[in-house]
Amino acid sequence: METNVNGIRVRYDDVGEGPVVLLLHAFPLSAAMWRPQLEALRGRYRVLAPDGRGFGGSDAPPGLYSMDQLADDAAALLDQLQIPEVILGGLSMGGYVAFAFLRRHRARVRALILADTRAGADSDEGRAKRESNARLAEEQGATPIAEQMLPALLALDAPADLHDELRALIVATNPTGIAGALRGMAARPDSSADLGEITIPTLVIVGAEDTLTPPAEAQRLQAGIAGSSLVTLPGAAHLPNLERPVEFNAALLGFLEKVGGDWG
Ligand code: MLT
Repeated sequence: METNVNGIRVRYDDVGEGPVVLLLHAFPLSAAMWRPQLEALRGRYRVLAPDGRGFGGSDAPPGLYSMDQLADDAAALLDQLQIPEVILGGLSMGGYVAFAFLRRHRARVRALILADTRAGADSDEGRAKRESNARLAEEQGATPIAEQMLPALLALDAPADLHDELRALIVATNPTGIAGALRGMAARPDSSADLGEITIPTLVIVGAEDTLTPPAEAQRLQAGIAGSSLVTLPGAAHLPNLERPVEFNAALLGFLEKVGGDWG
């Protein structure tokens, strides 16, 4: 489906009925990465998964995409669909956006899922790398970004067809969107101080072999958020929802049952 929010066209998936689960995707992917979760959850939940600005079928305007802007785009989509509150899930960049969403739209979040993400901001070195990659995308397109990122996204024994699917998804991404999100991630604030203020039920999930946002980051999130739980999935790297969908979905459904069971 498509709609206009904050001056851009946004494409989104909207399936199922029940408590609303809003899923925010990783960089440089799209809502397509949530396909196994849409299928697993749609029988009991309404799952909303937008393509963030710059990605998938959404517009890619020029400029820096701050995490605040991406959070406000998601909130504006909820406004349009007249959805007051959600269970919010974000993976990696989606987690950075989730922290911004919590700061700006806290009353709309009933529970939180943080997958393969971190609270901290970039180092100076990390910011410089993002800027050189933004320029690389602008000059040479998405393909070199795909080549650079793919080895870190999946565990070594990931199926070849998953690798090919992700490569195709990244290569098809608008380079303006890639550059906008890279610059937005580089500019994101440190959310570590926010962790102690999160009082809603929270599930942290991480792939045991994730090198981009390693299990130590997930442990920091879990230690910082009172009452949160942590699930570490063996045999998965940065995208456990795609690499180990059965186990990821079981963790998700178990959590949702606890927090969403009595919520219509
Ligand atoms: C992602 O998967 O969203 C990115 O790896 C996040 C990042 O580059 O920090």
